[in-house]
Amino acid sequence: MPDSTIATEPASTGAVTTGAVGSPTAAVLEQILDARHSCRAFTSEIVAEETIEQILRMAQRTASWCNSQAWQVDLVSGDATAAFSTALMDHVMSNDMRSDLPIPERYEGVYGDRRRASGFGLYSALGIERSDHEARSRQMLENYRFFGAPHVAIITTDAGLGTYGAIDCGAYVSTFLTAATSLGVATCAQAALALYSDGVREHLRIPEDRLIVCGIAFGYADTAHPANAFRTERADLSDVVRRHG
Ligand SMILES: Cc1cc2nc3c(=O)[nH]c(=O)nc-3n(C[C@H](O)[C@H](O)[C@H](O)COP(=O)(O)O)c2cc1C
Repeated sequence: MPDSTIATEPASTGAVTTGAVGSPTAAVLEQILDARHSCRAFTSEIVAEETIEQILRMAQRTASWCNSQAWQVDLVSGDATAAFSTALMDHVMSNDMRSDLPIPERYEGVYGDRRRASGFGLYSALGIERSDHEARSRQMLENYRFFGAPHVAIITTDAGLGTYGAIDCGAYVSTFLTAATSLGVATCAQAALALYSDGVREHLRIPEDRLIVCGIAFGYADTAHPANAFRTERADLSDVVRRHG
């Protein structure tokens, strides 16, 4: 069921009030942004078609370079999700990683620190020791079960649009996650799926001129599962903003 901790109606009715700090609209948006987190254990409850349609409609409002809307979405639901997971798991077990988009060779400095902190946060919530490589790989493989989600969206970009298209898709993913949260739908963006682009492409018959950016698992959160019990932090504004003038 939708997450009832998020108010479903803005505090004011009628026209959207924007433009003032503390406006009801900004407060609701901030509440949604605060509530969103990566869900790594879902119930099997499917999301109603009209809810999925609304998420897609809202995500479609994403801004993009020259309004090119580089994204396309392969939406997998129901029995097709289980079949996709089986095919992908087989692929992962017998093939090397290959990503359509170049992946970072390493995460250095603060990026490495943040990456480790988010990984250890998850493993510690799950009671997995840092040295337990087997349990860590089992948890990594959960990506290819979509963490039990009944739906997964694969986001692709047009090969010809290069970095610009990939940025547009990133923005699309963010709007999708936010829109889903506003409807009580839990999500997890999944670059892990793009690490095995060949398997995803083959199973969903994605054309060669579309590059696989990432997946988004979505459904309803299993709130009792320990994987959903931890939250990540964010750097201070002073660490990311340089002011001029
Ligand atoms: C494009 C993208 C790809 C991601 N890929 C994965 C993934 O493959 N597996 C996973 O468990 N989490 C994945 N995440 C989730 C991030 O780890 C998560 O967003 C980050 O740690 C911040 O935590 P939060 O989403 O709970 O705020 C991804 C997030 C983004 C935006």
